Amino acid sequence: MEYVYESGNNNYPTLILLHGTGGNEYDLIPIAKTVLPNAPILSLRGDVNEGGMNRFFKRIAPGVFDEDDVAMRAKNLKEWLIEKAKRYDFSLEKAIAIGYSNGANIIAALLNDYGNILQHAVLLHPMTPYKDKACQNLVGVNVFIAAGINDTIAPKQETVMLKERFEGANASLFLQWSDGGHQLTHETVDTLKIWIAKHQ
Ligand code: MLT
Repeated sequence: MEYVYESGNNNYPTLILLHGTGGNEYDLIPIAKTVLPNAPILSLRGDVNEGGMNRFFKRIAPGVFDEDDVAMRAKNLKEWLIEKAKRYDFSLEKAIAIGYSNGANIIAALLNDYGNILQHAVLLHPMTPYKDKACQNLVGVNVFIAAGINDTIAPKQETVMLKERFEGANASLFLQWSDGGHQLTHETVDTLKIWIAKHQ
Protein backbone atom coordinates (compact mmCIF):
# COMPACT_ATOMS: atom_id res chain seq x y z
CA MET A 1 0.00 0.00 0.00
CA GLU A 2 1.29 3.49 -0.88
CA TYR A 3 1.50 5.79 2.11
CA VAL A 4 3.23 8.78 3.66
CA TYR A 5 4.63 8.89 7.16
CA GLU A 6 5.51 12.21 8.80
CA SER A 7 7.24 12.08 12.14
CA GLY A 8 6.12 14.43 14.89
CA ASN A 9 5.94 14.75 18.65
CA ASN A 10 5.93 11.19 19.97
CA ASN A 11 3.97 12.22 23.05
CA TYR A 12 1.02 12.72 20.74
CA PRO A 13 -1.05 9.92 19.24
CA THR A 14 -0.20 9.03 15.66
CA LEU A 15 -2.98 10.16 13.31
CA ILE A 16 -3.81 7.42 10.79
CA LEU A 17 -5.56 8.92 7.76
CA LEU A 18 -7.78 7.23 5.16
CA HIS A 19 -9.20 9.29 2.30
CA GLY A 20 -12.54 9.07 0.49
CA THR A 21 -13.29 7.59 -2.96
CA GLY A 22 -11.11 9.17 -5.63
CA GLY A 23 -8.77 10.74 -3.09
CA ASN A 24 -5.21 10.04 -2.07
CA GLU A 25 -2.89 9.98 0.91
CA TYR A 26 -2.45 13.77 0.88
CA ASP A 27 -6.14 14.74 1.17
CA LEU A 28 -6.60 14.62 4.94
CA ILE A 29 -3.18 15.90 5.96
CA PRO A 30 -4.32 19.55 6.29
CA ILE A 31 -7.15 18.43 8.58
CA ALA A 32 -4.77 16.33 10.67
CA LYS A 33 -2.46 19.33 11.06
CA THR A 34 -5.42 21.47 12.12
CA VAL A 35 -6.91 19.11 14.69
CA LEU A 36 -3.60 18.08 16.31
CA PRO A 37 -0.58 20.06 15.08
CA ASN A 38 2.78 18.23 15.38
CA ALA A 39 1.26 14.77 15.76
CA PRO A 40 2.97 12.00 13.75
CA ILE A 41 0.96 11.18 10.62
CA LEU A 42 0.55 7.89 8.79
CA SER A 43 -1.61 8.37 5.72
CA LEU A 44 -2.52 5.57 3.31
CA ARG A 45 -3.72 5.37 -0.26
CA GLY A 46 -6.48 2.84 -0.95
CA ASP A 47 -5.22 0.12 -3.29
CA VAL A 48 -8.47 -0.62 -5.09
CA ASN A 49 -8.77 1.19 -8.40
CA GLU A 50 -12.32 1.91 -9.55
CA GLY A 51 -12.13 3.56 -12.95
CA GLY A 52 -9.07 5.54 -11.91
CA MET A 53 -10.39 6.36 -8.41
CA ASN A 54 -8.58 5.06 -5.33
CA ARG A 55 -10.70 3.19 -2.79
CA PHE A 56 -10.15 0.92 0.20
CA PHE A 57 -12.50 -1.88 -0.94
CA LYS A 58 -14.60 -2.90 -3.94
CA ARG A 59 -18.24 -2.03 -4.38
CA ILE A 60 -20.85 -3.56 -6.63
CA ALA A 61 -22.67 -0.26 -7.15
CA PRO A 62 -22.74 3.09 -5.33
CA GLY A 63 -23.74 2.27 -1.77
CA VAL A 64 -23.65 -1.52 -2.37
CA PHE A 65 -20.48 -3.06 -1.01
CA ASP A 66 -18.71 -6.29 -1.91
CA GLU A 67 -18.70 -7.51 1.69
CA ASP A 68 -16.24 -10.37 1.10
CA ASP A 69 -13.81 -7.83 -0.30
CA VAL A 70 -14.49 -5.47 2.63
CA ALA A 71 -13.63 -8.28 5.10
CA MET A 72 -10.49 -9.27 3.19
CA ARG A 73 -9.25 -5.66 3.00
CA ALA A 74 -10.07 -5.00 6.66
CA LYS A 75 -7.88 -7.99 7.58
CA ASN A 76 -5.07 -6.73 5.33
CA LEU A 77 -5.38 -3.28 6.86
CA LYS A 78 -5.17 -4.74 10.37
CA GLU A 79 -1.96 -6.58 9.50
CA TRP A 80 -0.53 -3.56 7.68
CA LEU A 81 -1.21 -1.28 10.67
CA ILE A 82 0.36 -3.71 13.13
CA GLU A 83 3.46 -3.85 10.95
CA LYS A 84 3.66 -0.03 10.57
CA ALA A 85 3.11 0.54 14.30
CA LYS A 86 6.15 -1.69 14.95
CA ARG A 87 8.20 -0.03 12.25
CA TYR A 88 7.50 3.54 13.39
CA ASP A 89 7.29 2.58 17.05
CA PHE A 90 3.85 3.89 17.96
CA SER A 91 0.95 2.41 19.87
CA LEU A 92 -2.15 1.46 17.90
CA GLU A 93 -4.21 1.69 21.10
CA LYS A 94 -3.24 5.34 21.46
CA ALA A 95 -3.42 6.19 17.73
CA ILE A 96 -6.41 8.02 16.27
CA ALA A 97 -7.69 6.75 12.91
CA ILE A 98 -9.46 9.40 10.85
CA GLY A 99 -11.36 8.35 7.75
CA TYR A 100 -13.58 10.19 5.35
CA SER A 101 -16.38 8.42 3.46
CA ASN A 102 -14.86 5.25 1.94
CA GLY A 103 -11.90 5.60 4.34
CA ALA A 104 -14.32 5.84 7.28
CA ASN A 105 -16.10 2.72 6.05
CA ILE A 106 -12.96 0.57 6.08
CA ILE A 107 -12.16 1.80 9.61
CA ALA A 108 -15.71 0.86 10.62
CA ALA A 109 -15.14 -2.62 9.11
CA LEU A 110 -11.86 -2.95 11.02
CA LEU A 111 -13.63 -2.16 14.30
CA ASN A 112 -16.53 -4.43 13.42
CA ASP A 113 -14.21 -7.38 12.74
CA TYR A 114 -11.34 -6.81 15.18
CA GLY A 115 -12.86 -4.87 18.08
CA ASN A 116 -10.52 -2.72 20.12
CA ILE A 117 -7.45 -3.03 17.87
CA LEU A 118 -7.98 0.75 17.61
CA GLN A 119 -9.38 2.67 20.52
CA HIS A 120 -9.98 5.99 18.78
CA ALA A 121 -11.78 6.24 15.46
CA VAL A 122 -13.05 9.31 13.66
CA LEU A 123 -15.60 8.42 11.01
CA LEU A 124 -16.45 11.34 8.77
CA HIS A 125 -19.62 10.67 6.77
CA PRO A 126 -19.50 6.88 7.12
CA MET A 127 -21.88 4.12 6.09
CA THR A 128 -22.41 0.70 7.66
CA PRO A 129 -19.79 -1.54 6.03
CA TYR A 130 -21.75 -4.78 6.53
CA LYS A 131 -25.50 -5.23 6.24
CA ASP A 132 -25.76 -7.57 9.22
CA LYS A 133 -22.47 -9.06 10.26
CA ALA A 134 -22.07 -9.30 14.04
CA CYS A 135 -19.80 -6.68 15.59
CA GLN A 136 -16.95 -7.55 17.96
CA ASN A 137 -16.99 -6.09 21.45
CA LEU A 138 -15.98 -2.41 21.32
CA VAL A 139 -15.58 -1.79 25.02
CA GLY A 140 -12.96 0.94 25.50
CA VAL A 141 -13.32 2.17 21.91
CA ASN A 142 -14.11 5.88 21.41
CA VAL A 143 -15.81 6.76 18.15
CA PHE A 144 -16.49 10.21 16.69
CA ILE A 145 -19.03 10.23 13.85
CA ALA A 146 -19.81 13.28 11.72
CA ALA A 147 -22.85 13.03 9.46
CA GLY A 148 -25.01 15.30 7.32
CA ILE A 149 -28.77 15.08 7.54
CA ASN A 150 -28.94 15.80 3.81
CA ASP A 151 -26.15 13.43 2.83
CA THR A 152 -27.29 11.49 -0.24
CA ILE A 153 -24.09 9.39 -0.46
CA ALA A 154 -24.07 8.27 3.19
CA PRO A 155 -27.78 8.56 4.02
CA LYS A 156 -29.02 9.33 7.52
CA GLN A 157 -30.34 5.80 8.16
CA GLU A 158 -26.85 4.39 7.49
CA THR A 159 -25.40 6.64 10.22
CA VAL A 160 -28.14 5.64 12.64
CA MET A 161 -27.58 1.94 11.90
CA LEU A 162 -23.82 2.27 12.47
CA LYS A 163 -24.34 4.22 15.70
CA GLU A 164 -26.76 1.59 17.03
CA ARG A 165 -24.49 -1.27 16.04
CA PHE A 166 -21.42 0.25 17.67
CA GLU A 167 -23.27 1.34 20.81
CA GLY A 168 -24.79 -2.14 21.00
CA ALA A 169 -21.19 -3.43 21.01
CA ASN A 170 -20.29 -1.08 23.94
CA ALA A 171 -18.42 1.65 22.04
CA SER A 172 -18.43 5.12 23.52
CA LEU A 173 -19.83 7.23 20.72
CA PHE A 174 -20.07 10.91 19.87
CA LEU A 175 -22.26 11.84 16.90
CA GLN A 176 -22.37 15.26 15.29
CA TRP A 177 -25.06 16.05 12.74
CA SER A 178 -24.68 18.92 10.31
CA ASP A 179 -27.42 20.40 8.11
CA GLY A 180 -25.39 19.72 5.00
CA GLY A 181 -24.59 16.81 2.75
CA HIS A 182 -21.49 14.64 2.26
CA GLN A 183 -18.93 17.42 2.46
CA LEU A 184 -16.85 18.11 5.56
CA THR A 185 -17.72 21.30 7.40
CA HIS A 186 -15.60 23.74 9.41
CA GLU A 187 -17.91 23.05 12.34
CA THR A 188 -16.98 19.35 12.21
CA VAL A 189 -13.27 20.15 12.14
CA ASP A 190 -13.68 22.51 15.13
CA THR A 191 -15.66 19.93 17.10
CA LEU A 192 -13.16 17.23 16.20
CA LYS A 193 -10.31 19.35 17.52
CA ILE A 194 -12.02 19.53 20.91
CA TRP A 195 -12.84 15.78 20.88
CA ILE A 196 -9.21 14.92 20.09
CA ALA A 197 -7.93 17.20 22.87
CA LYS A 198 -10.07 15.15 25.28
CA HIS A 199 -9.00 11.78 23.93
CA GLN A 200 -5.29 12.10 23.20
C1 MLT B 1 -18.23 4.04 -0.17
O1 MLT B 1 -17.48 3.47 0.60
O2 MLT B 1 -18.51 3.60 -1.29
C2 MLT B 1 -18.76 5.36 0.25
O3 MLT B 1 -19.21 5.53 1.47
C3 MLT B 1 -19.24 6.23 -0.72
C4 MLT B 1 -18.08 6.80 -1.42
O4 MLT B 1 -16.97 6.73 -0.90
O5 MLT B 1 -18.29 7.31 -2.52
